[in-house]
Amino acid sequence: MEDVARATSVVELFETRDWESSFSPDKQMRAVTALERGRVLFFPHLAFDPDPEARRLLGMAAGDEGRKNVSLDPATGRVHGTSAQDLDKARLGAVMEQFGGRAHALVGALFPRYASRIERARTSFRPSEIAGRASTARHDDKLLHVDAFPTRPTGGRRILRVFANAAPDGVERVWRVGEPFEAFARGFMPKLRRPLPGQAYVMHKLGLTKTRRSAYDHYMLRLHDAAKLDAGYQRDAPRTVVSFPPGTAWMCYTDCVLHAALAGRFAFEQTFHLPVEAMADPTLSPLRVLERITGRKLGEGASG
Ligand SMILES: [Fe+2]
Repeated sequence: MEDVARATSVVELFETRDWESSFSPDKQMRAVTALERGRVLFFPHLAFDPDPEARRLLGMAAGDEGRKNVSLDPATGRVHGTSAQDLDKARLGAVMEQFGGRAHALVGALFPRYASRIERARTSFRPSEIAGRASTARHDDKLLHVDAFPTRPTGGRRILRVFANAAPDGVERVWRVGEPFEAFARGFMPKLRRPLPGQAYVMHKLGLTKTRRSAYDHYMLRLHDAAKLDAGYQRDAPRTVVSFPPGTAWMCYTDCVLHAALAGRFAFEQTFHLPVEAMADPTLSPLRVLERITGRKLGEGASG
């Protein structure tokens, strides 16, 4: 089923070369429509190219064995997941902050309707090669999945991620992109168990989740796991291979775009959260899709 020709149906191209570009209303409309319909916005000429000193630090981060991600919390400025110390650690944080700021400017210019409601979350740098990395199926991002995180419930808020391939040596970042979210969810939801009464309350009280897990979060985690653990689905599900060369950037709602990162290294990523009501068409959100399928309210404040 891997069909490169289908790439044009999952990717929407933007020719901009500048992270601080402005966009015409037509382009803004094209961007928000494509994004909310589950396409990947691809910027083939938009490079995030750290200077040589920054590259030295990024190379050091790549040498941190067993570490998948370096992360920056923009609220505190703290950098996690690196053995770099003192000035080097601060400089590494500054490179990541530079990427996060550029990603934020791009999102603000492309989606003016989101600007007052969007929240910048963690910035990450992913130095290590993905191909050949061993992990359990549940943690294996080489398998098709939608993003959902056990300790960080969203309550239905969207997960928008901006990526850039900063590999110095021509190494492409290779993704698989799967079927539309609603088709995927309709296939798996009947097989998933409902949340247990009281479970979200207890997990929050025990400190296992940062906020209380909603029924939406429960189902999204189950969908994430069910897709990864279903070898037949991984083998047979519709998918398209998309390659992102160095010097390019891309973004999508990773909570609805089925994706698998197959290969690549030296990528930057910036996460944003957006309330469903701030979307141009909230009915396209995974929250509203799952509510239509279950016939129940599932977001923050809904009972499990
Ligand atoms: Fe993911």
